[in-house]
Amino acid sequence: MTKKQEIQVDIVRSLEDLQQVFDLRRTEFVQKQKVPENAEFDGNDFTATHILAKQENEVIGTLRIRYFHDFVRFERMCVKEGWRGQDVVERILNFASDFLKRKGFDKAHCFCKPELVSYWESRHHHRIKDAPIVHAGGMELVPMCFIFPSTETPIQMNGNPKQLVAPEGKWLPEKTSVPHVLRTLNNLDR
Ligand SMILES: CC(C)(COP(=O)(O)OP(=O)(O)OC[C@H]1O[C@@H](n2cnc3c(N)ncnc32)[C@H](O)[C@@H]1OP(=O)(O)O)[C@@H](O)C(=O)NCCC(=O)NCCS
Repeated sequence: MTKKQEIQVDIVRSLEDLQQVFDLRRTEFVQKQKVPENAEFDGNDFTATHILAKQENEVIGTLRIRYFHDFVRFERMCVKEGWRGQDVVERILNFASDFLKRKGFDKAHCFCKPELVSYWESRHHHRIKDAPIVHAGGMELVPMCFIFPSTETPIQMNGNPKQLVAPEGKWLPEKTSVPHVLRTLNNLDR
């Protein structure tokens, strides 16, 4: 018997992966939770970063990230049935936390259903003080905040330029040296 591969967490980098993410969300939210299709697929998928957790070729979890001024929004977190009660959510949150710290963000806003408040509180989310519960699409949504635990530091404009052209999220470690010629250019800039 072949050994099962470790769960991989990454950003969606292909239409095939995005299609699998959409299929998972359609099953969980549209079919099981009766969210209208046009609310689930609201057009914002084309402005977002999608994170996916995969086991071999099967997408088993996802999270959508959208960007605001000094925070992001976490949306559509979902783990496939059969993979719940393990560490898939933790793996996705850790990946998102490292990725977003390098992008310069340190916190996320999200809404959760009232029955999941204590679940998210046990995963370092907290209720946003004075923010009202929102009623949308027949649901109550509680505003929560997640401060990223990652110690990663943001990629800088005058840092290693390879970071700026690398595939999203596949950045070099912060300490990677900057080529001499670019150090000189940066000094001239100042
Ligand atoms: C929310 C979710 C991502 C959590 O995944 P997970 O960490 O693998 O955890 P589980 O599904 O095993 O649930 C963890 C706990 O939350 C509880 N829980 C999950 N969904 C719940 C719900 N709709 N109502 C009440 N409790 C719920 C579980 O009973 C469990 O409690 P326990 O640890 O005491 O057994 C997963 O349940 C999911 O994908 N749900 C469907 C999509 C969804 O509703 N997403 C919205 C998130 S705000």
